[in-house]
Amino acid sequence: MYKYLIIAILIMAAASFGTYKALAQKTPSEKVSAEGKVLIVYYSYSGNTKKVAQAIQDKIGGDMFEIKTEGTYPENYNEMVQQAKEEITNNYRPALTTKLENLAQYDVVFIGTPNWWSTITPQLSSFLQAYDLSGKTVIPFITHGGGGVQNTVSDLTAQCKGCKVSDAPWVGYNDRTMGIADWLKGLGFDVK
Ligand SMILES: Cc1cc2nc3c(=O)[nH]c(=O)nc-3n(C[C@H](O)[C@H](O)[C@H](O)COP(=O)(O)O)c2cc1C
Repeated sequence: MYKYLIIAILIMAAASFGTYKALAQKTPSEKVSAEGKVLIVYYSYSGNTKKVAQAIQDKIGGDMFEIKTEGTYPENYNEMVQQAKEEITNNYRPALTTKLENLAQYDVVFIGTPNWWSTITPQLSSFLQAYDLSGKTVIPFITHGGGGVQNTVSDLTAQCKGCKVSDAPWVGYNDRTMGIADWLKGLGFDVK
């Protein structure tokens, strides 16, 4: 099964490298109000999504919240991706071990996750189940290994009930942050 994931990722990596559209993020149909208080929420297993979260914070400020949960993964990569697949198939929702205080103060919430098996991680699903983000502007940021956005943003949107999800998410290959300042400017933020 792991073999198929690697092959699929390699094919998709080649495809996205060919068009190289990964560098050009979408232009939003609506600008975000730069007045509101910003929260940056993310889950990161191996550090790429964390790096993008930090790059966003470096450029526009805001508070950071790292999603952490119960449960561990095997050190062996094949076993790890297999466990993740089973968790996703079974709609596993691990218990959160970090707690977000005073969500009400934030107007804009960036939400980051790696693409796992074409979708969002169980850890992010647990977060979206636990916290009511309805009415807030949500800006997804996705990191991937070559597959691109796949179902990540649509699944995030479906699980973020009542959220105003931006139509210009960040979709970046692994830990790429090149282009992030222009993306944030395009969304309507004042960038440092
Ligand atoms: C369990 C697992 C499943 C993955 N599935 C995909 C996938 O379906 N498509 C893809 O493009 N990348 C996939 N990747 C690659 C990650 O999305 C990519 O390396 C990401 O940047 C990792 O982020 P992190 O370092 O914040 O955990 C997968 C990685 C893991 C560990």
